[in-house]
Amino acid sequence: MLIRSLGEGETLPYELLLLADPERQAIDAYADRCDCMVMEENGAAVGAYMLLATRPKTAEIMNIAVREDCQGRGYGRKLIEHAVRYCKEQGYRQLEIGTGNSSLGQLGLYQKCGFRVTGVERDYFVRHYAEPIIENGIPCRDMIRLRLEW
Ligand SMILES: CC(C)(COP(=O)(O)OP(=O)(O)OC[C@H]1O[C@@H](n2cnc3c(N)ncnc32)[C@H](O)[C@@H]1OP(=O)(O)O)[C@@H](O)C(=O)NCCC(=O)NCCS
Repeated sequence: MLIRSLGEGETLPYELLLLADPERQAIDAYADRCDCMVMEENGAAVGAYMLLATRPKTAEIMNIAVREDCQGRGYGRKLIEHAVRYCKEQGYRQLEIGTGNSSLGQLGLYQKCGFRVTGVERDYFVRHYAEPIIENGIPCRDMIRLRLEW
C-alpha cells in the first residue's frame, strides 16, 4: 500500500473522484488548483484525495474516495490520516472538509478522525448540482462543514 502525489502529466483518477463528486465539471473546477494523492495497491489505484490550499495555514480536502470494492477496510481513514500528516509537514494549522447532510458514514468517519462541525451551508447541493441527490433515503441539501485544528 502506497500513497503518492500524482505527477503533473498523469491523468486524474476520475473513476474514483466521481464516487465522491457526481459531476465531472465540478471536479474540473477545482482540480487545477489541487494536489491529488493516490493510494495504490499492487499498482492499482484504490483510493484518492484532493487537497486545496484555501486560506493561509488552511487546507481543504475537496474530494476523497475509496474504490467501491475496497470500502469499509480502513482505507478512507488511512487517506485522512495521510492528509493530516502531510498538512502538518507543510506547515498548515487546520484541515477542513465538507460533506452532505445525508452522508452519514462520512460524517461518522470524519468525526472519528477528530474533525468537528463548524457550520452548515444551507441548500448548497440544491444550488450547485443539477440532479437531486438522495443518500440513505435522505435528500442531500445542506453542506456540513468540518475542521480539524492542531
Ligand atoms: C467515504 C469513504 C472515502 C470512506 O472510506 P472507507 O475506506 O470506506 O472508510 P473506512 O473503512 O476507512 O472507515 C470508515 C469509518 O467510518 C465509520 N463509519 C462508517 N459509517 C458510519 C456511521 N454510519 N456512523 C459512524 N461511523 C461510521 C466506520 O466505523 C469506520 O470507523 P473506524 O475507522 O473507527 O472503524 C468511502 O466510503 C467512499 O469512497 N465513499 C464514496 C465517496 C464519498 O462519499 N466520498 C466522500 C465525499 S464527502
